[in-house]
Amino acid sequence: MNDESCAPIGIFDSGFGGLTVARAIVDLLPSEDILYLGDTARTPYGPRPLAQVREFTLQSLDWLIGQGVKALVIACNTGSSAALRDARERYPDLPIIEVILPAARKAAGITRNGRIGVICTAATANSRSYNDALAASPVNVITQVCPKFVPYVEAGITTGDSLIEVATGYLEPLKHQQVDTLILGCTHYPLLSGVISFIMGDDVALVSSADECARSTFGTLKRKGLLRSDNNQAVRRFTTTGDPAEFEGLGRRLMGGFVRDVEQIDLGVTV
Ligand code: DGL
Repeated sequence: MNDESCAPIGIFDSGFGGLTVARAIVDLLPSEDILYLGDTARTPYGPRPLAQVREFTLQSLDWLIGQGVKALVIACNTGSSAALRDARERYPDLPIIEVILPAARKAAGITRNGRIGVICTAATANSRSYNDALAASPVNVITQVCPKFVPYVEAGITTGDSLIEVATGYLEPLKHQQVDTLILGCTHYPLLSGVISFIMGDDVALVSSADECARSTFGTLKRKGLLRSDNNQAVRRFTTTGDPAEFEGLGRRLMGGFVRDVEQIDLGVTV
């Protein structure tokens, strides 16, 4: 095992949602050190113009690079839609894993009727990144923007009548369009999968961009010779640009003991 493979995996999201990816990565790769950054001070990214999302995402990725990570995971569909190409040009020597292509591939592989729904933020929908990722597959893509979902998650609400009513408004049109596969095209949404699958019904397969991204992380690190093969007692650092106590409280509520000792960091830019 080389020294490089002992460095942490850097994981970025606009806020809390990327923790669904971090948790999936820890499940698959328990020996890996991870460094998580949630840009909670500026979340949500979804309603922002793509150029601004790109700027914020690259600032966050620069910070992770400065911490010496061995790979970057853009655990944010919105950030990936806006900045993936620029990130790959900016850090040509570093493996960069993202959420969109792995989820699109999985959905294209499991759909039976070729009707794939994508729920996501406005910025992800505007970028058409899922349409591009699925362009070569013989499928219809039906996109639904769900702007109220991220604020619900960031407020720690993942069930209840008001959320179910909002979700029904978003998801009924997809049911009428007879999608049989639904991509959760925002890493916050796996935390709402109880409500989403309750409304969509058992016949619709949910594809979590978080789970697919974790598998892609495993594959990429293995191919690059960067997978840890020892029994490392992993160090998992959680950082936020926002209020660390709030972040930790939300973590305790939604993810049990997974998130602890949250540190506040300064990106060195005006937020
Ligand atoms: N979790 C992010 C994503 O996957 C979006 C959240 C936001 O709007 O900031 O797209």
